[in-house]
Amino acid sequence: MTVPPPPPKITVVVPKSAAIHSATVSAPTNIACIKYWGKANTHYNTPINSSLSVSLDQCDLRAVTTASASSSFDRDRLWLNGSEVLDVSTSKRFRACVDGVRALATDKIDPNTNQVLVSKADWEGMHVHIASYNTFPTAAGLASSAAGYAALVAALVQLFGAKESYPGEFTAIARQGSGSACRSLYGGFVAWRAGGAKADWSDSIAEQVADESHWPEIRAVILVVSDAKKETSSTDGMSTSVNTSELLAFRAKEVVPKRMQIIEKAIKAKDFDAFGKVTMMDSNQFHATCLDTYPPIFYMNDVSRSVVQMIHKYNEWAGEIRAAYTFDAGPNAVLYTLDKHVVELLALVLKYYPAKSNDFVEEYVSSESLAKEALAFELDPSLIAAVEKSCRVHEHGDVKMVYCTKGGPGPQTLDPSESVFEFKME
Ligand code: DP6
Repeated sequence: MTVPPPPPKITVVVPKSAAIHSATVSAPTNIACIKYWGKANTHYNTPINSSLSVSLDQCDLRAVTTASASSSFDRDRLWLNGSEVLDVSTSKRFRACVDGVRALATDKIDPNTNQVLVSKADWEGMHVHIASYNTFPTAAGLASSAAGYAALVAALVQLFGAKESYPGEFTAIARQGSGSACRSLYGGFVAWRAGGAKADWSDSIAEQVADESHWPEIRAVILVVSDAKKETSSTDGMSTSVNTSELLAFRAKEVVPKRMQIIEKAIKAKDFDAFGKVTMMDSNQFHATCLDTYPPIFYMNDVSRSVVQMIHKYNEWAGEIRAAYTFDAGPNAVLYTLDKHVVELLALVLKYYPAKSNDFVEEYVSSESLAKEALAFELDPSLIAAVEKSCRVHEHGDVKMVYCTKGGPGPQTLDPSESVFEFKME
């Protein structure tokens, strides 16, 4: 698959003498192994349980955001994927991020002369312009809001030279944009501690459990089952679940605390068996709470369920856990595996969820080299016999594309040439 070029820059005309301050960053998406579902406090956007995710490599999937400030801007403005979002200045999520980071701004100093170029008070008087794009389908259950709000907060931190007053404060701001965004501010394996002991919820923050170099063998194979916008947003879905599902309350209180311990131990020991099992069980329980919600919410579809069956047959055949599925608020399957099994897993995926033809496999799979290796890989006939019992060869199109990726770092500062804006002096 060829990486799409960045979209055209957003052109903004500014007065000739205007000073524009800008920062551009990219941020990863993250896929939870232990799911966040349900808010304890809607004002602070805090969860009823802790959660844990893997931040994914930014080669294929990332959000890129430029944050700019100038005293010549007459209002706050935001562009997402090339289109301006109107009335953004009254959006609670947007305000929480912009005002939250700006409150931590520091003076911008000229390193040569030591003179204050922009004081903290100056920042307060400026409006911001923000432009952001994703390199993957928005709202398809690929955590685009997580990457987007993490990139927003990280870009604002750079722009304002913001400093935390306690560790994790930026993540507390990002979670007010979107809960899962707090986990995208770090790379590798990241926990979001539910918090709640402090009245202002300043203990509801993300923490890195291990960075991306700790377990570099982890791979993620993502089957994009639908790239359409999802029917029930996470925010609405979890609100109905909190109000109606007794299973969700039980899960938050009794199940997740134990699973957080299990998964953190598994990550530290690089124990894929334990990591994979708890990941699959937690995905299943999250979707069970969706079914237990009244009226019920369905995020997985028949294709998603067939992937679940295929993975269980695969693991049973192998006599160990070689792949683990997880599904967010949508039908896409994220399969975690290890480097040594990724070609076999991809070969299995390509057999049961084929490309239009082998000639089109480069358009279908994000990594051309892995796709070629997988096509040349001979699956064990006994594995095919085992899988065939419960999984049929699907029509092309049931899976729209396959991303092969891995864990990766947190937000990255990009060169000014990668700015999403082009400011034209009038
Ligand atoms: C199923 O973070 O999108 O992906 O806080 O309302 O913006 P809001 O919700 P959001 O919910 C993500 C839910 C999930 C599970 C997870 O990522 O932990």
